[in-house]
Amino acid sequence: MDIAAARPLRHAPTPRSARPRRYLMTAPQFFAVDYVINPWMDASVVVDTDRAITQWETLRQTYLDLGHSVDLIDPVPGLPDMVYAANGGTVLNGRAVVARFAHPERAREAVAYADWMTRNGYDAFETRHVNEGQGDLLTVGGVVLAGFGFRTDRRAHDEVAGHIGLPVVSLELVDPRFYHLDTALAVLDDATVAYYPPAFSQDSRATLAGMFPDAIEVASADAYVLGLNVVSDGLNVVLPAAATGFAEQLRAAGYRPVGVDLSELLKGGGSVKCCTLEVFS
Ligand code: ARG
Repeated sequence: MDIAAARPLRHAPTPRSARPRRYLMTAPQFFAVDYVINPWMDASVVVDTDRAITQWETLRQTYLDLGHSVDLIDPVPGLPDMVYAANGGTVLNGRAVVARFAHPERAREAVAYADWMTRNGYDAFETRHVNEGQGDLLTVGGVVLAGFGFRTDRRAHDEVAGHIGLPVVSLELVDPRFYHLDTALAVLDDATVAYYPPAFSQDSRATLAGMFPDAIEVASADAYVLGLNVVSDGLNVVLPAAATGFAEQLRAAGYRPVGVDLSELLKGGGSVKCCTLEVFS
């Protein structure tokens, strides 16, 4: 027998497996770029709301086709960023934390998300310090990775840890283009992340390298189309279609990339993950 043929491929992808998920989304009926609170936003750019709705609808259908469930929150007039549901809070370990937004323009969104939490049997815990939900609080295995530097206040990390009862690892963001953790780091499964190293401070890069020696590091071309703003079920990774290099890396690592075009929502500085709050029960 040919020994070489019997050996496993040197780069055989790790087998990955999907788990059904529950997502919460808000339709972009009132989406617009009416104010500027991140470097992606330009108030002189015209937003095609119908196109935004069609793109968002495709994202929702993609989740349903993958076998996941999607709860919807009614959009509220005058809250153009409400489509970025990830920022509404986080639901984890049977506990819910509602957002406290950094910018007054988004403050009222928290009311709608708290209301959803209450109606679904959760106590909507409020932090004293700013926290922008799953924009900055990402769960990997039993640990919460928490971003700070632009939006979520580092002091909120302890509040969240205390309420949720899980360890929190604080990560410092240093590039305003990557103002939320979910623009700079993607959770792919319970043990694997992908990230863009230049978005983090030296200390946080060292923390990530120590925690995730097998992490995928993405190139600037992918990071700059918000390629890391993905939603993974452990196997299928729904990501911005323009992030083609990252899609290749994912395939080589045994995942199934599913590209979607959210170019209208990119005008507000968000993509797939921003539009999706995952309910971890
Ligand atoms: N315009 C929104 C803001 O600046 C975009 C939020 C994107 N959401 C996210 N999870 N990164 O707050």
